[in-house]
Amino acid sequence: MEKLISGRCHLQLVPETYTLPPESRPGQTQVPLCETIPVIDLEGELSFDRTHLIKQIIQASQEFGLFQLINHGVSEKLVHDVIDVGKEFFELPAKDKVSLYSEDPKQSCRLYTSIDYDSEKVHYWRDTLRHPCHPLEEHMQFWPEKPPHYREVVGNYSAEVWKLSLWVLDLICEGLELESRYLREELSPVQSMAINHYPPCPDPCLTLGLPKHSDVNLITFLLQGESHVLQILKDGQWLAVEPLPNAFVVNVGHMIHIISNGKLSSADHRVVTNKKVARTTVTSFIHPCNNCRIEPAKVLSDCSPPLYRDFAYKDFLK
Ligand code: OGA
Ligand code: NI
Repeated sequence: MEKLISGRCHLQLVPETYTLPPESRPGQTQVPLCETIPVIDLEGELSFDRTHLIKQIIQASQEFGLFQLINHGVSEKLVHDVIDVGKEFFELPAKDKVSLYSEDPKQSCRLYTSIDYDSEKVHYWRDTLRHPCHPLEEHMQFWPEKPPHYREVVGNYSAEVWKLSLWVLDLICEGLELESRYLREELSPVQSMAINHYPPCPDPCLTLGLPKHSDVNLITFLLQGESHVLQILKDGQWLAVEPLPNAFVVNVGHMIHIISNGKLSSADHRVVTNKKVARTTVTSFIHPCNNCRIEPAKVLSDCSPPLYRDFAYKDFLK
């Protein structure tokens, strides 16, 4: 539990174990905004031109591997409540969190700071509470009991995001001209939620909250909060993803890149730290089941040869 970075808020200097080697440091943490990331507005979605919507999503996923969704139907109140309850969780005294702290990745609901803390050379400035969500009745009993409304708020929120994520997956499926429900069943039955907490950092030039990565799963819906610290690597340059109120940042996962035989991409992104405020983000990941075999869809690898051989999702994660 003492490994958690949120327990060390008094730090005046970045400890050596969090100081990245010069070549990996973010250097300048204030980077220009990426003005071109597509913002897809779902206002009046039922009267929508579905073909146009699909085109927007596919184009964004081809060019950026990331887009923002606004007016998506998940209420502003629920979005605020889930961020607030995430913040409240991290503000709880250590005695209320200790039972959830675990270094065992097999523990279903757990609080940790890094997947590989003991073997990594430098640590990242982030703690995470992570647990599976779907179906709620199987998992909720293992979620935190405090704050008292955690289960209700996160339960309502995750159910809404689950529906929205599957709907977007269906649109992607249609846009790729795959048979309907191709991305359903075995490819998308698992939803997990991460509440990420990034405490203020005395010197953001030396550290990262999260290093460069693309999400390995199928699709991710992120509430990124208000600070300009989420960055995307676009044409060799780090650019900030604009924080838009109540928007979802949707990350196309690596599995969609593979299934689409490279037609869609997943964005490289990272999180820098900031000096002033603690930041809490809420991330919902949709995953294939562990034994599911992943391969480029046959219809997409007919004209161009498959770029990837098939593999089990669990082996990829390893
Ligand atoms: C992630 C991620 C971004 C953030 O959890 O994969 O990219 O701002 N999070 O927390
Ligand atoms: Ni990510």
